[in-house]
Amino acid sequence: MPHKIDTVVFPVAGLGTRFLPATKAVPKEMLPVVDKPLIQWAVEEAAAAGCKRFVFVTAPEKDAIMKHFSDAPHYQDVLEARGKTQELALLKAGLPQDAEIIKTYQEQPLGLGHAIWCAHEATGDKAFAVILPDDMVQHPTGCLAQMAAQYQTCGGNLVAVENVPADQTHRYGVLDPGAEADGLVAVKGLVEKPAPEDAPSTLAIIGRYILAPDIMRTLSAFKKGAGGEIQITDAMAALIGQVPMNGFRFQGTRFDCGNRDGFLEANLAFAIAAAGDEERAALKQRLRPLLD
Ligand code: G1P
Repeated sequence: MPHKIDTVVFPVAGLGTRFLPATKAVPKEMLPVVDKPLIQWAVEEAAAAGCKRFVFVTAPEKDAIMKHFSDAPHYQDVLEARGKTQELALLKAGLPQDAEIIKTYQEQPLGLGHAIWCAHEATGDKAFAVILPDDMVQHPTGCLAQMAAQYQTCGGNLVAVENVPADQTHRYGVLDPGAEADGLVAVKGLVEKPAPEDAPSTLAIIGRYILAPDIMRTLSAFKKGAGGEIQITDAMAALIGQVPMNGFRFQGTRFDCGNRDGFLEANLAFAIAAAGDEERAALKQRLRPLLD
């Protein structure tokens, strides 16, 4: 029986060039969807899945991320003095009480696989989760919680997947799928960012993984793949046959917040979900003429 996942890795060292100039001084993971930065949505999703150890693979110039999850004594004192209890609660929100926060730096931008490898001391010999905060999933049960439940039946390496339009396979890790039952897809092979004509399917990996500890040994070969980068997709492919490898069709709507349209859609979708009936009707009325 696979053990419970209690460690999650956030690879958050990359530059957010697609969102310049917004991301010149502010890390892209600190861009807000409605009222919370992307990284806080990701942390809350991991906490809801039972994670207690939160590993941030980051870069020195992105310390705003760590600051976001630290105490803010000055801010706290001011709010306390003013009796602003609601705001105080928001200031402290985000991390569960007994969370362990671990920070490690990715010294060079060598790819997602390398970023995950940078967490190896923290993950040790246990399976762990990875969340890419750019990918958001809207569903009452978080995507990682859905995966953690599924993981108890399959173990090994598990990735969240969804079908993407055929002309978008070059943006994703793509599955060569085998048999499928109840949303669990056996994986025969994996290709990172294939051109549509080379893609084995349109079933793409989105930014949620549960990985066997063996992955760290494979990654430590530092083998370069697509785009000259060390790819997590290649490391998982290399382990097929040694550990179970499955895709998981999650429930919910996924937004790619790494591009402008996806980010805008996520903001609208999460704002609408949080709104009451009246507010939603008013929003609809105000938005419709803007879209016509
Ligand atoms: C990464 C992975 C890719 C995956 C994608 C999901 O790519 O390398 O396999 O499908 O995340 O968002 P990136 O978006 O960092 O280029």
